[in-house]
Amino acid sequence: MTHSSGTSADSSPENSESQDISSRAQRESIVVIDFGSQYSMLIARRVRESKVYCEIISHKADWESVARLNPKGVILSGGPASVYDDNAPLAPDWVYENGLPVLGICYGMQVMAHQLGGTVAPSSKKEYGQAQMRQNAPDLRIFQGLPPSMQVWMSHGDQITEPPPGFRSLASSENSPIVVMGNDEGMFGIQFHPEVAHTPQGKELLENFLYGVCGCLPVWTPGNFVNDSIGRIQEQVGDGKVICALSGGVDSAVAASLVQQAIGDQLTCIFVNNGLMRKGEVQQVRDTFQRHFKTNLVYADATENFLGALIGVTDPERKRKIIGEEFIRVFDEEAARIGTVDFLAQGTLYPDVIESETQGDDISAKIKTHHNVGGLPEHMRLNLVEPLRYLFKDEVRNVGLELGLPEDIVYRQPFPGPGLAIRIIGEVTLDKLEILREADAIVLEEISASGLYRDTWQSFAVLTDTRSVGVTGDYRTYGHVIAIRAVNSDDAMTADWARLPFDVLARMSSRISNEVPNVNRVVYDITSKPPGTIEWE
Ligand code: XMP
Repeated sequence: MTHSSGTSADSSPENSESQDISSRAQRESIVVIDFGSQYSMLIARRVRESKVYCEIISHKADWESVARLNPKGVILSGGPASVYDDNAPLAPDWVYENGLPVLGICYGMQVMAHQLGGTVAPSSKKEYGQAQMRQNAPDLRIFQGLPPSMQVWMSHGDQITEPPPGFRSLASSENSPIVVMGNDEGMFGIQFHPEVAHTPQGKELLENFLYGVCGCLPVWTPGNFVNDSIGRIQEQVGDGKVICALSGGVDSAVAASLVQQAIGDQLTCIFVNNGLMRKGEVQQVRDTFQRHFKTNLVYADATENFLGALIGVTDPERKRKIIGEEFIRVFDEEAARIGTVDFLAQGTLYPDVIESETQGDDISAKIKTHHNVGGLPEHMRLNLVEPLRYLFKDEVRNVGLELGLPEDIVYRQPFPGPGLAIRIIGEVTLDKLEILREADAIVLEEISASGLYRDTWQSFAVLTDTRSVGVTGDYRTYGHVIAIRAVNSDDAMTADWARLPFDVLARMSSRISNEVPNVNRVVYDITSKPPGTIEWE
């Protein structure tokens, strides 16, 4: 294989050019070889933000498994190892043998130097944090449009002391003589992290590699993704029947509308109302899918079954288990009514795929975490249609907008499968659900009115199991305590309590205690995760 530096579309007639560009968006890619860096996923996201398709692959991947992606270049990620560690992960030989451009980042650069005959040694001064990179050689392939000196983010103990044969130093810093190296074959190593925000011009440098060195086109766009996915779904499904469980969340909504655009009536969505949704949510989901998208929608109001099964239950994990099992029962029953079904469409996202691939999970384990259920019964182990399998969350939202889904659904904050049941401490009853729904609606209304909804990861109300004394007019009251929870987070693994403005909190508090019967006290949860969790149960 040789470098692809031209654009095959350039010489095509206009209409075939746009078709060609659309299919190139899916046919060409950059692969990121993962050496365990906390930043591997960020590198992939940055590449895709520059509209070039990108996947993360294992450092053990063989060429046959990678060739299907039609890679135009390879990025070697950073990682915690030193090349001199026993069992230090190395790049597979095909990386250096088939003529693809390569960009090694941090450990990726050291691996490249080590495998190609250079010298890597522990730095006398380790570099963590900001550094100034100065170009030694004006290499316009990688430095196009960049100043001779720029701020970069370092995080390394080892460094390159001798570049491999054919490579030269292109830039240095105060503590490292070789911060960027390159050869004439389009192979580059950089000691800093261009993918992090602390390297302000990292995006330009990455794009020089993608567009200039690898010859990629910026064509990985939501529109091209939708066109390509429709074709793929049609091919996979043929004239088979597909079912999809709608939850009200963005992932299942986008997956369902993509499948619906591809195969229309062959798709039936099943929406189970578990009686644990927020105020107005059930109606909104039904309206969107039935009226707006004209989807075949089976609506099952199983409120009584769920609430019946939850009577007397206070343990959070038992609540989850009961709700999961009940969901499967209702879903199975509704699916059976549809007749023969061939496929199950799911809104699985790329981070779940990466996580389960790295943990070696099987598909049934993924269904379990995805739907929060105890596993589908044997007869329902259907073939999966997972059109979002290679997308990050922000890409899913962009695809949702492209498909015409309302912003209310596209930008919806995450909501747990067991719904309000894990936001009512203790037993779930209809009365308590009513109180929590009203209080929660006020929290969401006020956070939206203050323009903070999209910037907040999750914001909601919790009905505690505490009663407290209050006073209304001349009367002493003994009412419920509502807790407001709002957090900022990137991925729900860690979270910081949101510093909501006092006036927003004040409006929430006064409205909840005035408008929601039997509530006389409102508190704000100022616990981060860890040590707390986002939900109270
Ligand atoms: P915690 O409370 O563990 O929550 O910090 C992390 C994220 O997961 C959501 N969550 C759930 N989602 N089923 C779900 O589908 C569950 O049982 C569940 N429990 C927590 C929570 O809302 C947050 O986004």
